Amino acid sequence: MKGKGSINPKITLHMENEKTLIHDFDLNLICDYFGRLERQGPGSPESTIRALSFIDNFSNELNIADFACGTGGQTMTLAQNTKGTITGLDLSPDFIKKFNTNAAKLGLQNRVKGIVGSMDNLPFQNEEFDVIWSEGAIANIGFEKGLNYWKGFLKKDGYIAVTYESWFTDERPNEIEKFWVNAVPEIGTIGHNISIMQKAGYSFVAAFTLSEKCWTDTFFIPQKAIQKAFLEKNAGNKAAEAFVEYMKYEAELYSKYKQYYGYVFYIGKKI
Ligand SMILES: C[S@@+](CC[C@H](N)C(=O)[O-])C[C@H]1O[C@@H](n2cnc3c(N)ncnc32)[C@H](O)[C@@H]1O
Repeated sequence: MKGKGSINPKITLHMENEKTLIHDFDLNLICDYFGRLERQGPGSPESTIRALSFIDNFSNELNIADFACGTGGQTMTLAQNTKGTITGLDLSPDFIKKFNTNAAKLGLQNRVKGIVGSMDNLPFQNEEFDVIWSEGAIANIGFEKGLNYWKGFLKKDGYIAVTYESWFTDERPNEIEKFWVNAVPEIGTIGHNISIMQKAGYSFVAAFTLSEKCWTDTFFIPQKAIQKAFLEKNAGNKAAEAFVEYMKYEAELYSKYKQYYGYVFYIGKKI
């Protein structure tokens, strides 16, 4: 989920095919769209559990943070596969409301709590967490900046696990290069990103690419099911129409160029 303005002023939505710039999607519109979905970005329970398997002591009572948790798709999977407490943090009050409702529905409210906040200005103590998790969101503050800033909130030997947009090849067609450099200016190859993680003071634990299903089955296909209702609710709203077109365009690009890029899970251990 990427949007200009309230979510990340650095991101400009640019429909390369129609040469249209889409300005000023407000947070309410984006949250209305993505709040209808279980997840707000590519991912799956399987990939969350796979990443968790690289964390030595995950069956202990850990203190876990999930930054930019959205409505908590991955957080609930984490909670169901660990014993400790999880604090989810997201900029969107609407998402956090849904997050806490979801936790309560699953009987997890005593261990899982969502709070509103920004991941570049965290309300936590130094070295508070055993594990910091973040799926599909670190680009909003920058991969390097996020890894460096968040490290202060991790205990020594604590783990970080993030998914991040990454190139799978050294070169790629212009259309997809422009689209992703526009959305995530820092986007790099997997090797480059691992090196950033190591320079930030983590030892490298694992990296794996998210499967195509993480994009199609849990992200693009569920969107098709909600677009009609979203457009009906926002009838006559040009920004809403343009936003749906943008999301369709992102799905088309993925099907055309998926061999060149994707999300990668990066797991590191604080030294
Ligand atoms: C692509 S969604 C990912 C949500 C969820 N982790 C998932 O994978 O389904 C990105 C999330 O980042 C949140 N976000 C963007 N900028 C943020 C910031 N500065 N601090 C906290 N959350 C932020 C958005 O509200 C949104 O929920």
